[in-house]
Order: sequence, then structure tokens, then C-alpha cells
Amino acid sequence: MKIISSIEELRDQLSGQLRTAFVPTMGNLHEGHLSLMRLARRHGDPVVASIFVNRLQFGPNEDFDKYPRTFQADVEKLEKEGVYVLFAPTEKDLYPEPQEYRVQPPDGLGNILEGEFRPGFFNGVCTVVTKLFSCVQPRVAVFGKKDYQQLMIVRNMARQFALPTEIIGAETFRAEDGLALSSRNMYLSPAERAEAPALYAALNAVATEVRAGHLDVFQLEHKAMDGLAARGWQPDYVSIRKRIDLQPPNAGDLAQGAPLVVLAAAKLGTTRLIDNLEI
Ligand code: PAF
Repeated sequence: MKIISSIEELRDQLSGQLRTAFVPTMGNLHEGHLSLMRLARRHGDPVVASIFVNRLQFGPNEDFDKYPRTFQADVEKLEKEGVYVLFAPTEKDLYPEPQEYRVQPPDGLGNILEGEFRPGFFNGVCTVVTKLFSCVQPRVAVFGKKDYQQLMIVRNMARQFALPTEIIGAETFRAEDGLALSSRNMYLSPAERAEAPALYAALNAVATEVRAGHLDVFQLEHKAMDGLAARGWQPDYVSIRKRIDLQPPNAGDLAQGAPLVVLAAAKLGTTRLIDNLEI
């Protein structure tokens, strides 16, 4: 595997490649990321991964400085997956001057759910993803469904800008007890790790009720949030949305059986976890 930090060298290395499959990451790789690499391999060749902890998507009180950086271990994992190039730019490589041009998603999608609780997050994501795409020029790029809203925003962005990159969504990789794998799980104490699957259990309980025809969305969301709070969580949201646009379903949507997804974000101690489940 070639490890490249400069944009120029990356372009030389990938010149003439028409079927590149790309997986952008912020490192601290776990099985979930590796499943994205395997999916990428099925959709293109060569597989290119990136590791870049993108300052632009972190709020002032978020964990940019303490975000886990495990470069050597990550390299070994990617080598085993047969990744051809790891693009690992420094901040100077990717942002040699302040990144004043930004990609701003529409408010209706970028400022809801995660965007409401993490202002500027999707602006940072869209900006870096656009820049990484411009560097790698992939034919396909793989994003996990764990970050459901991110996947939808990136997919819409690629469509609206007519980017030549197809966005592929990968199923969430879960531990045996249901907890979605995430780099932030490593912040959990042993007691919190034992409690953490309750988030996915709460989503499953909502999905079960909806499938059984209980369609009082407001009541289901509040019951789930109250249940989490009673167990010691601080929920930001549990929200039932339409899969097509992440807007709340109205009575007509529910009556017509519009495809739904339930999304949640909640803090356990100081660790904020997100998860979702298509219904
Ligand atoms: O999902 C992530 O790890 C990041 O948001 C991404 C897509 C690599 C952009 O920094």
C-alpha cells in the first residue's frame, strides 16, 4: 500500500485510473470501516482510503484535539484489506491556506437532526468530501449508513453538482449486543459500554411499534427519549423521519406507508452516540 500525503503525488499515482473506489475516513479504524473497504472492492479497483481528521466539521467544544489518532494500527489494517493507496494528508496538505470557499448543504437537510445539535458540521463534511473527491477523483465512494444524514447529504450533493462519483451506502456494522461500531465507543467506560446497546434497543422498540401500526409519532419519540433519560442518558433526539428527505412524516405519509427511518442521538456520560434504524 502506498501512503501519500501530497495532493500532487496522489494525482500522479492515480492518473489514468477510471474505476477508483474511495472510502474517506477520519482514522481509528474498526471493523465497520473495514467492511466499507470490502464493499468498495466490490464496486471498483483500485481501492483508495483516506485518513484525515477534518477540523472544519468539529465545533469549538467538540473533541477535535482528543479525537483518537491511531495511524500505525490503521495502516496495518488497511494493508490487510488490500487497499492500494492511503491518502493521509496533513492539515497543511489539504488546507494550505484557510478554506474560505465552503460547500453549504440546504438548511432543510443540513440544519436538522445532527445539524441542529452540531452547527456547521455538515458544512465541514461537505467541504472536505468535495475536496477529497477532487483529489481522488473516484468513480464510486462508500459511506456508512450509521451516519445516515451524512450519507443522504453527500448523495444529494453529488447529484446536484453532477459529480462523476456514485455514492454507495453500506449497512451499519454492529457488535453482537447491537451497539453500532464507532470510533467514539472507545470513550465509554466499561459500565457505559454495557449500557450503550440500549440506544439501539430503543430504536428497535420504536420500529416494532410503528410496524405494529402504532402511528402516534410524537408519543413514540417521547416515550423512547424518556426511557433513555430514565436509564441515565441525555437524549438530543429520537426522531421518526421519512427516508426520502428526512422530514417528519405527516398523516398522509403514514397512511400511505412512506418508508421511514428512526434516528437518535444521545449522550452517555460525556460520550455522544448516534444510531438509526430503517423501519
Ligand atoms: O464519516 C466520517 O468519518 C467523516 O465525516 C468523513 C466522511 C470522513 C469526512 O471527514
